[in-house]
Amino acid sequence: MTSPAKVTITGAAGQISYSLLFRIASGQMLGSQQPVELSLLEIPQAMKALEGVAMELNDCAFPLVQKIECHDNPRAAFEGSSYGMLVGARPRGPGMERSELLGANAGIFQQQGKAINEVADDKIKVVVVGNPANTNALVCLKNAPDIPKNQITAMTRLDHNRAKAQVAEKLGISLSKIKQMTIWGNHSTTQYPDLYNSLINGSNGMEHFTQEWYETFFIPKVAKRGAEIIEARGSSSAASAANAAIEHVRDWVNGTEEGDWVSMAVYSEGQYGVKEGIIFSYPVLCHNGEYKIIEGLDLNDFSRKKLKETEIELIEEREAVENI
Ligand code: NAD
Ligand code: LMR
Repeated sequence: MTSPAKVTITGAAGQISYSLLFRIASGQMLGSQQPVELSLLEIPQAMKALEGVAMELNDCAFPLVQKIECHDNPRAAFEGSSYGMLVGARPRGPGMERSELLGANAGIFQQQGKAINEVADDKIKVVVVGNPANTNALVCLKNAPDIPKNQITAMTRLDHNRAKAQVAEKLGISLSKIKQMTIWGNHSTTQYPDLYNSLINGSNGMEHFTQEWYETFFIPKVAKRGAEIIEARGSSSAASAANAAIEHVRDWVNGTEEGDWVSMAVYSEGQYGVKEGIIFSYPVLCHNGEYKIIEGLDLNDFSRKKLKETEIELIEEREAVENI
C-alpha cells in the first residue's frame, strides 16, 4: 500500500476550498492510488466552520482519505507536509485590483513560508492561489530559504484554461484541438495570453484570428475574466479556481501531455530576458515530478512589449513587499 501524502490546504473553510478539498479527497489531484492525509488550516474565527467542512469530508467516506486534521496554527498544519495549497487570503471585491490585496495578504505568506521552512517535508510542492498570487508566492519563497526555489509556484492555470475556452468558443472547436497555450507574467490584468506560440487545429494559433480581435477582445477578455466573474457572482471565481489548482498540481506530479505544455508561475532565473527573482508565469513541461521552462520560443515585438509590461508590474509588486 502506498504511504499517504500529507496535503495542507490553507483557507480550508473558504469558497475555493469547498470545491478543492472534495476533489483532492476523491483522488482527482494525486490519483486514485494515492492515499492522502488532509491538513486543513484556518484562522481561529473560522474554526467552527472548518469543523463543519471536516464533518462533510468525513461523511463522504472517501476511501483514499486516511486522516483529516483541522488547525489554526501554520506550524502544526505544515508539519511533514508534501503538498501545500496556499489558498487562504482575502479575495478582492468589485472594482479592486488584485495588487491592492498585497497589504492585507502578504503577511499571511510570510508566516506560512516560515512554517513551511521549519516543518514541512523538504520536497514539498507549493502552489499559491491567494491573491496577488505571484508576489505572495515570492514572499513565501523568501521566507522559506531552505526549500528549493523551484518548489514554490503560483497559479496561472485558471488564466490558461480561460484562454483555451475563449478560443474554443470563438472557433467552435473542441478544446482538445488547442495546444501550447501560454500565459506569460502576472496573474493580473497585465498578463499576456500568447496565441502566437499556440497550436490550434494543428497550425499556428494566430493564423485563425486577426490582430485586432486578439488585442481588443481576446487579451482583455482573459486578463479581466476574474473581474467579470466577481461582477456577475458577487464573489470571486471558486470552482474554476479549485479546478485549476487541481490541474496545476496534477500535471506537476504526473507530467504534461505529449505535444502540449501548461502555464505555471515560477521563480524566474532570467529566462526570456525577464528579471531574475520574480515569480513569472511561463510555459512549462512537467515530467517525473519536475517542471522545466520551455526555452527558445519566438517572441515578436508585440509579445516582447507585453512581457515587459507584466514584468514591470511584478518588479513593482516585489518592491512593495521588500520589507517582508
Ligand atoms: P474566501 O474568503 O471564501 O476564503 C478564504 C479563506 O481563507 C477564509 O475562510 C479565511 O478565513 C481564510 N484565511 C484568511 N487568512 C488565513 C490565514 N492566515 N491562514 C489560513 N486561512 C486564512 O476566499 P476564496 O474565494 O476561497 O479565495 C481565496 C483567495 O484565492 C483569494 O485571495 C482570491 O482572490 C484568490 N483567488 C485566486 C485565483 C487564482 O487564479 N490565482 C482564483 C480565484 C481566487
Ligand atoms: C480570478 O482570476 O478569478 C481570481 O484571481 C479572483 C479575482 O480576484 O479575480
